[in-house]
Amino acid sequence: MRVAFLGKGGAGKTTTAAGFIQFMSERHPFVLAVDADVNAHLKSALNLQGEIKQLGLHFDKVTDYLRGERKDLGDRPMIGTTPPAKGSNFIYPKKDNHFIKEYALYERNIALLTVGTYQQEDVGGSCYHEKLKSLAGIFHHMLDNDDDVVIADTTAGTDNVATSLSFAYDINVFVLEPTEKSTQVYLDYKEIAPQFVERTYVVGNKVDGEEDAEYIKGRVGADKYLGSIPYSTYLKKFEQGDDDAINSFHKEQEAAFENVLKELKSRKRDWNEYMERLQKAYAWDCQRWYSDYYKQDLESGIDKTFRYEDVLSTKKTAMPV
Ligand SMILES: Nc1ncnc2c1ncn2[C@@H]1O[C@H](COP(=O)(O)OP(=O)(O)OP(=O)(O)O)[C@@H](O)[C@H]1O
Ligand SMILES: [Mg+2]
Repeated sequence: MRVAFLGKGGAGKTTTAAGFIQFMSERHPFVLAVDADVNAHLKSALNLQGEIKQLGLHFDKVTDYLRGERKDLGDRPMIGTTPPAKGSNFIYPKKDNHFIKEYALYERNIALLTVGTYQQEDVGGSCYHEKLKSLAGIFHHMLDNDDDVVIADTTAGTDNVATSLSFAYDINVFVLEPTEKSTQVYLDYKEIAPQFVERTYVVGNKVDGEEDAEYIKGRVGADKYLGSIPYSTYLKKFEQGDDDAINSFHKEQEAAFENVLKELKSRKRDWNEYMERLQKAYAWDCQRWYSDYYKQDLESGIDKTFRYEDVLSTKKTAMPV
């Protein structure tokens, strides 16, 4: 199961994602956390101490790894939406997985992948979408099942709509403050991406009493509202160095998180639908930009018969890492 936390800048995405990662890490043997924000703060929000490896610096190597032994591509490059095929390497969100061991910071029972920020050579020449597209490639090669937990913190706004990350998560949770601007981000998303609204929910953050909660429900619809997290004085204490205060804050988040978990558990990913979306996104990317860019027809000739089930079924007997 995969969930992403979205919302306006400063609404509390990182704080809420970190809280949910902690919540799930107390209930599951292993949690894969993904920091997909250009301003990478998930590590400190989780109070992890080790060194992170910025995935953004290693995407060429990552892409080679995902490409594996596949023959159908010939000399075509892989882009973020290139659907996997026979010969691809896949990622299993497990502690001993090769990819996780290579790129994640592992502490407690949390593995943290960090896309990372811009480098000097990116200045004026690269946008974060390029990095997000590569991250999407990782998700499209991930074979998580219903017991695996993958939780992502994202960039502010509705950015994920612009990449194939838009369908990479089983549910999206918007973190909304009880203000017009904050709730507008969800309303804009609803307008731009109506096809994903069925998998999108809202958590109220910095909510001060029932009136605030009612305000958000009035804006987004009560059926979408999974619960409120209060404006917390414990969080400030934690950020001022009182490590124990975070536990009291986690208690304040618990009721909303129980509902997020319930929604996540009720989802069963349709892998065929996922593949259809991915193939469409790939065709669209090739036609719009990449075939031209690489001066090569990227679209024709690649294996379109591959189904995730082809590799998911082998996983039942022996778990490749
Ligand atoms: N429930 C809460 N109670 C009190 N303060 C909060 C709460 N949630 C978040 N904050 C504070 O709000 C600020 C922004 O939170 P956070 O960094 O999680 O937001 P964000 O949406 O990830 O921001 P960005 O868009 O910059 O990534 C932080 O100082 C955080 O401590
Ligand atoms: Mg953040």
